[in-house]
Amino acid sequence: MSAPPELPELVVRALRLSLQRGYMQTSRTETGRLLAALAATRTGTIAECGTGCGVGAAWLRSGAPKDTRVITAELDPDLAHGVMDMFADDDIDVMHADWTSLAAHAPFSLVFLDAGSARAAAREQIVELVEPGGMVVLDDFVPCPGWPPLEHGRVDQLRQAWLSDERFTSVDVMVAEDTSVIVAVRS
Ligand SMILES: C[S@@+](CC[C@H](N)C(=O)[O-])C[C@H]1O[C@@H](n2cnc3c(N)ncnc32)[C@H](O)[C@@H]1O
Repeated sequence: MSAPPELPELVVRALRLSLQRGYMQTSRTETGRLLAALAATRTGTIAECGTGCGVGAAWLRSGAPKDTRVITAELDPDLAHGVMDMFADDDIDVMHADWTSLAAHAPFSLVFLDAGSARAAAREQIVELVEPGGMVVLDDFVPCPGWPPLEHGRVDQLRQAWLSDERFTSVDVMVAEDTSVIVAVRS
């Protein structure tokens, strides 16, 4: 284990909601710890695309400075309203909306989304959300040691595009044996 086992109280609450709902897509704890550490460096506004049961938002809020805003959007109404209720007294803005509506609150100092959502989007839509010096964090990749990055025997074009984009300084971080996260910092 690379960190003390205690989890922030906000994260524990969000994990309980995930368990209650049988929601299996929550961010991994290893990813969450990275999110919290990155959020600790951020001012302005941090955005999450796809709230799920609020685990990623909880990690971001736990790490971010008090004055940094955390905003998250979820398409599924039950999930969005459940998380809104759960975070009613916390400083996290939860929207029931397609994440593309976050653009109205951009630019962001950090944008977090999962690889599945990123694959379904136009990459430029994500790039446009990020301020200079801001970062995009993409989770749920399968670790791949070689280049070009492969997934299921084929070139993983999404990962290749983020890691090759000259507007960003990027790294693929293997946060656990079976999962990796791309951090891309915009020039
Ligand atoms: C992998 S889960 C997100 C997990 C979450 N970020 C966490 O840290 O636990 C992806 C979520 O995105 C939501 N979603 C899918 N398409 C969306 C869209 N266009 N706008 C907002 N949310 C979306 C799904 O309903 C699902 O809850």
